[in-house]
Amino acid sequence: MEITLQKGDFTAVEAEALVLFHFEQDDRLLETTAAVNDAAGSIIGQVIEAGDFRGEHLEHFLLYSQGSMATKRILLMGLGKREEFSVHALREAAAQSLRTLRDRRQPRAVLPIPFDSKFPLDLEDTAEACVLGGMLGLYQFTELRTRDLDNIKDFDSLIILSQKDSKQLAARVDRAKAMASGIYLARDLVTLPPNLATPTILAERVGEMAEQAGVNFHLIEKEEAEKLGMGAFLAVAQGSDEPGLMVALDYQPSKDDEPPVVLVGKGITFDSGGISIKPSKDMDRMKHDMAGAAAVIGAIQVVAALRLPLRVVGLIPFTENLPSGKAYKPGDVIHSLSGLNIEVINTDAEGRMILADALTYAGRYEPQAIVDLATLTGACIVALGDDVAGLMGTDDELLARLQAAGEESGEKVWPLPLWDSYFKLMKSDVADLKNVDGRKAGAITAAIFLKQFVPEGVPWAHLDIAGCAWEEKGKPLVPKGATGMGVHLLVRLLQEWQPLS
Ligand code: BES
Ligand code: ZN
Ligand code: ZN
Repeated sequence: MEITLQKGDFTAVEAEALVLFHFEQDDRLLETTAAVNDAAGSIIGQVIEAGDFRGEHLEHFLLYSQGSMATKRILLMGLGKREEFSVHALREAAAQSLRTLRDRRQPRAVLPIPFDSKFPLDLEDTAEACVLGGMLGLYQFTELRTRDLDNIKDFDSLIILSQKDSKQLAARVDRAKAMASGIYLARDLVTLPPNLATPTILAERVGEMAEQAGVNFHLIEKEEAEKLGMGAFLAVAQGSDEPGLMVALDYQPSKDDEPPVVLVGKGITFDSGGISIKPSKDMDRMKHDMAGAAAVIGAIQVVAALRLPLRVVGLIPFTENLPSGKAYKPGDVIHSLSGLNIEVINTDAEGRMILADALTYAGRYEPQAIVDLATLTGACIVALGDDVAGLMGTDDELLARLQAAGEESGEKVWPLPLWDSYFKLMKSDVADLKNVDGRKAGAITAAIFLKQFVPEGVPWAHLDIAGCAWEEKGKPLVPKGATGMGVHLLVRLLQEWQPLS
């Protein structure tokens, strides 16, 4: 889809539809809407007066402009009540508008930025929200279809119309585009089936992204992992014929070796549970067990595209978790990179095993902070539901920043406690710790396990995205399937990064 920013008047541009917003029960039209209403013989006013369109959030009404302007149709889109309005509500309204048009096979829209002294957002925020929302709502994955390609509905072009021309405005439209492509990348990687997204294939794809984005790329293969002593990562990988691979991305905007923020993403390309095998119902869904990795990859692509003045490292352990004659077993004791010995109770708690070594390895970069993202526990879904990430960690300021980034991005995160007293549940009779206790506080005990591997003194936060990485039904900004959860959140966190106090 092509997105362009144009300065000018709505009467001149031609497309299938002009998208106009209206607040619920507002007794006045937004000025932009009013201007179109005047030009089109008051047809908008009549519809609203007749009570046929109230402006409820995401309600729409389609009108014909009857020759009064170059654009044939007017799509009225409701913004809901003024008091309840937010940037998120606007992103959703833009998404719903473009999706409505796409479904009607009207693939070109003009969206004038409301130019109105009483509009709650400024021009830049509005343009950014419309572009990002519009793009996110239009996402679809069609790569693997070979039949009925004519039935695939595409959207071709969005023209953002502004009465003002400014560098800032253009920059914000570009920022929204960069963000959306990072989220698209994450969604694509998660959607890809596990046979076409093995550790090797994904590492290659990440390598291509890194090259295009100007990010350093290093691949730790089995031999190097063995030399380093990544026992926990290798234990999970040993059950599969597909080799495990640890990917290190390093976005280094300046020559100095400044301490980076390290992002760690769980990259299980298929989680069968291993010897502690999962039930077969919905097992196919476990292709999305690399959504944490996808978020890190997407975020680093965006960070590089925006040229943020901060070093950001991404560490991604990629492996399958399969049962076989070589697979690790319950009862095994594994020597991790940190030196700690882990007793394996359940091979399905593999995410924490691979993250343990990645977290230890992160210490080499002497990071100013570490954030990990992982589809780690079903228990997190039980605790918080399926559209919120569980947030835990060791540094209150970092946690508060992530929560703020969650509010801004609309990617919800919510704190769970991480008291050290939970560690008693993880004590092992034969080794330093075990990888699983019973069902109690499962999201927290998983995080307490991870905490043992976080380099001493480094502020760390953990996001359990098990529930929110996959969308069951579809929402305005998130079509059914992979959500891309974490990309927007991480970029927001890093965008105006200041050293933690
Ligand atoms: N990948 C799963 C967690 C998961 C569950 C993600 C549902 C997304 C949706 C993880 O590796 C796992 O299997 N966790 C176990 C841990 C248990 C063995 C302690 C779980 O949650 O059941
Ligand atoms: Zn598992
Ligand atoms: Zn898993």
